[in-house]
Amino acid sequence: MWALLVLIGAAAVSAHLQDLAFDGQKVFRVIPQNDEQVEIISFLASNMQVDFWQPDSATLVRPKMQVDFRVEADKSFEVEDLLKESGVEYRVLIDNLQAALDAQFDSKARIATHSYEKYNNWETIAAWTANIAAQNPDLVSRSVIGKTYEGRPMYLLKMGKSGPNKKAIFMDCGFHAREWISPAFCQWFVKEAVETYGKDSVMTTLLNRLDFYVLPVLNIDGYVYTWTNDRMWRKTRSKNAGSSCIGTDPNRNFNAGWCTIGASKKPCDPTYCGSAPESEKETKALADFIREHLSTVKAYLTVHSYSQLLLFPYSYTYKLPLNYEELNSIARAASKELASLYNTKYTYGPGATAIYPAAGGSDDWAYDQGIKYSFTFELRDTGRYGFILPESQIKPTCEETLLAVKYIANYVLEHLY
Ligand code: ARG
Ligand code: ZN
Repeated sequence: MWALLVLIGAAAVSAHLQDLAFDGQKVFRVIPQNDEQVEIISFLASNMQVDFWQPDSATLVRPKMQVDFRVEADKSFEVEDLLKESGVEYRVLIDNLQAALDAQFDSKARIATHSYEKYNNWETIAAWTANIAAQNPDLVSRSVIGKTYEGRPMYLLKMGKSGPNKKAIFMDCGFHAREWISPAFCQWFVKEAVETYGKDSVMTTLLNRLDFYVLPVLNIDGYVYTWTNDRMWRKTRSKNAGSSCIGTDPNRNFNAGWCTIGASKKPCDPTYCGSAPESEKETKALADFIREHLSTVKAYLTVHSYSQLLLFPYSYTYKLPLNYEELNSIARAASKELASLYNTKYTYGPGATAIYPAAGGSDDWAYDQGIKYSFTFELRDTGRYGFILPESQIKPTCEETLLAVKYIANYVLEHLY
């Protein structure tokens, strides 16, 4: 009993500490017009503890690119002055991050149980994976593909009616810890599958003829850390030799042009590529699983936020993938499906040209393993809330994304051999 009270007390204190930490913080948007203005942005990055929301790091900033970044409360006036003085046009996206954080939990129910329309903590998601498998034994099974750096089991759900030599689609969520809408989508997808199997003809056919592997959270340690210590954490939580900075960017840690472009060799940077490809237990576990299932996995989907993008290879090079035309038309059609519900506009294309070149991503790696249908989703929004997307947007975001995923899955099914 006392232990429980102490636990609740500790959770309340840590939540409170986080609350204080974000009060007065701002998120700015700038579009640097030339190299000189890009220089000013990198100056801010290195001298003002600026946290880049989009792109993922100051090193990725180029002229004419839309740049969103977060600034500490005590630095925000200085930063704003500097932007004014240097003539960089800017806009304040979020005036007080604390207000946005409070608005994030805007769904009616603040109950401590699992909900598809809430952000669930890891403990709740882990329990959910066990329950959904137990409640749907002929459709869902759970396995463990490895353990995280901090020792948490990485649960994988396999969905589909059992049948002989079925092909599969692999989807993961929660690479980057602060992109909370991503794990919410993986959970939503599993729910839709079990609830609409036998009712929705497309879903029924998909599950009869394909298996779906769903990894609800890849970077579990990072996700936990965003709940307990720092809502804005991105990377894994592993220690780096010779540095006091923690973590590697899991989406720079794959063996696809590893650390050659759009990634950092410095452990303190948000896009640190790690000491070697697959240096992280989490990325190694994912890569091992896919390598072991290469004969069945026909598509790879990875879900991030934010920006409303549907990306496909390559990101580590400007060269186009062999089936570029095919991937482009799939992305076009999937984006159109997605927009049909709430008119949410997506941009699509190869990562390198649609956003920026960045090596070491899981999408490029999976593609080069021979998985010809490989896509990265960047879900809502385009910056109004960024990573702090309110819970009231979970349902519409997941509904529309589901349409795109079903489109892609159905395409893959129809082009199996
Ligand atoms: N925002 C994502 C990231 O930078 C985009 C990933 C696109 N794919 C890639 N291989 N860079 O991680
Ligand atoms: Zn991401």
